[in-house]
Amino acid sequence: MTQAAEHPGRNSTSPGIGTPLNRIEGVAKVTGQARYAAEHPAEGLLYGVAVCAGIARGRIRYLDTAGALNTPGVVQVLTHENRPHVPWYEAAADDDDAAGNAKPPVPLLLDGAIMYSGQPIALVVAETFEAARRGAMQVEAAYDTLPHNTLLGSALAQRFTPAAKAQGNIVRGDAQAALDDAAARIDSRYELAMEHHNPMEMHATTVQWHGDGRLTVHDKNQGSQNAQRQLAQAFGLEPDSIMVANHHVGGAFGSGLRPGYQAYLAMLAALMLKRSVRVVMTRQQMFTHVHRPAATQEMRLACDTRGKLQAMEVIATTSTARIETYTENLVKWGAIAYPCDNLRLDYAVAPIDTPTPGNMRAPGAATGVNLLEMALDELAYANGMDPLALRLVNCSDVDGISGLPFTSKALKKTYETGAERFGWHRRSHEPRSMRNGMELSGWGMATGIWEALVLHASATATLDAQGILTVRSAASDIGTGTYTIMAQIAAGALGLPLERVRVEIGESPLPDSPFAGGSAMAASVGAAVHRACKGVARQLSELAGGPVGSNDMAKLAARAPGGHIEASATVDPPQEDGKARNTHSAVFAEVCVDERLGVIRVPRLLACVAAGRIINPKTARSQVLGGLVMGMGMALQEEALFDHRLGRIMNHNLAEYHVPCHADVHDMEVIFVDEPDGLASPLGVKGVGEIGIVGAAAAIANAVHHATGKRIRTLPITLDKLL
Ligand code: MOS
Repeated sequence: MTQAAEHPGRNSTSPGIGTPLNRIEGVAKVTGQARYAAEHPAEGLLYGVAVCAGIARGRIRYLDTAGALNTPGVVQVLTHENRPHVPWYEAAADDDDAAGNAKPPVPLLLDGAIMYSGQPIALVVAETFEAARRGAMQVEAAYDTLPHNTLLGSALAQRFTPAAKAQGNIVRGDAQAALDDAAARIDSRYELAMEHHNPMEMHATTVQWHGDGRLTVHDKNQGSQNAQRQLAQAFGLEPDSIMVANHHVGGAFGSGLRPGYQAYLAMLAALMLKRSVRVVMTRQQMFTHVHRPAATQEMRLACDTRGKLQAMEVIATTSTARIETYTENLVKWGAIAYPCDNLRLDYAVAPIDTPTPGNMRAPGAATGVNLLEMALDELAYANGMDPLALRLVNCSDVDGISGLPFTSKALKKTYETGAERFGWHRRSHEPRSMRNGMELSGWGMATGIWEALVLHASATATLDAQGILTVRSAASDIGTGTYTIMAQIAAGALGLPLERVRVEIGESPLPDSPFAGGSAMAASVGAAVHRACKGVARQLSELAGGPVGSNDMAKLAARAPGGHIEASATVDPPQEDGKARNTHSAVFAEVCVDERLGVIRVPRLLACVAAGRIINPKTARSQVLGGLVMGMGMALQEEALFDHRLGRIMNHNLAEYHVPCHADVHDMEVIFVDEPDGLASPLGVKGVGEIGIVGAAAAIANAVHHATGKRIRTLPITLDKLL
């Protein structure tokens, strides 16, 4: 999809890096011109609706599809008995970190085995969406059931350490001895509920069947090339025969790192029926796609009288699925942020009968750091000291695990700037000591940390004879601002006004791009775009024999061979250079608690972020705001509620699975501190997609303790827990 800056007048005249530009695709989005995966037309399009299992574990005894097949408009019902034989079904099932997005998911419609409630058991395909839905309601299934368990607490006996994670489990020094000797210590267990990604756009795929062996797959995902590889692998097709497009994506938060099951079902149906097919998940079905695993984290922490950490023991378990093993980095972050001589980090998983978990915004850190930051607040109180003072005492210039210095780490500046702006010095230490009218008031804070990644990425830049510069890469804009920041990087690199830049991203045939994950897109693709544009600039000055103004560029391009000037560039992950690369933040929260009702409001949230160079302060701020709001959900609302007898999530809709709405969100402030960094990535960019959620939930939970004196150790802190 090519995006031009259609209303540059609303944007700044100086469009380069550091300018708070509006989204260049904003007008296309609000006027409905921007097409999402389920909005692409196709000749003779068929509609598929998935039928999902009503039991959590067992086997299909019979599947009666006659009623569906007799429904007017229904064309076919795909089941494990009639689906086409594609290589997917010979794929090895489980291995370490199979849900780590590199491989297709465990095959659907495989053999009638049911591994979780909501598992697709059939796809009803019809000439209209309505007929497909009606047909889906006619499918009858009978099962032989097996015992299931969907409760993490009941699976802890089966806790195991996947091989991929064993090396992250560290024992250093003598934590027990340090705990025995310490001035203050805590020994607590914190928990986080299972959470679901709920992007506005449901997972959707439109497969366009061209009849000549080529397929165009408009799919909601975070990486068109990753999706192309996985679909080609699953269906035994030449990658070049599948063009995957993700022109516009309505949020994903990790749920689109690999294509959702609807993509595989749509592909199966298209290949079987040789027609174009669209499948869209329902909001309910989104709750049987991926999720953030439930977690329990036991922590024993000790400090000396100054608050310096003497022992850190973290024993964490997340739920995984029996169907495939999902792991994340849960325990390392705290030890990176706060060096401690006596360390024991132990992470493992426990399998339950649910769909596989998957990456959800700041996977691992959002869980592990938020729970640790709640425990550190508890430790500060055990030591009779200010929670911010404890963070400052433990703030370090080296990565506590590797011992390496950071390329940059302005965390101390975020503490100081954030505290100043929030007015932290006006906080009284004692819990229940601040009031706001009838309500108890509480102020809390926490630290955030995430990694600053650079992944392999390429781009081309082409200047044509009209003086239009087009940059191309298979990057994704999942609502984050990729179109806009690539435009401004390109405009800045050549000194062009924004209206002379086009950005073409979101299609698998374009130059290599990583998926939009790990907050790596801006640093990786941004650097490739910048280099490619600088390559064009070099060619221009060679042609002109000196510096070139933007008005002369079209003429020079017209004279170049082919009538244009083009350059390509690639960036790769940094070589081992003895440096650690991370983003950091300090989050401050104010809550008001109505003690009679247990209602918690969050009148103020402030994040002070150190993330290297900020390309676009406006879209970057939006990313951090989104992370803060998601952190608010994590602290106070979000929780998949199971009926464990059925093994089924009961609140699988946005009426009962609560996320913060406008009425919940009040004053939020994001401050980016200056963090010059010539090493983190070629442009000094570190990425901001995930840092916002890390620490946000803990700051709010810590504020709830400060307000009420109650230490609620299980997130979300719903009002029943306060009464
Ligand atoms: Mo993200 S959870 O790296 O998409």
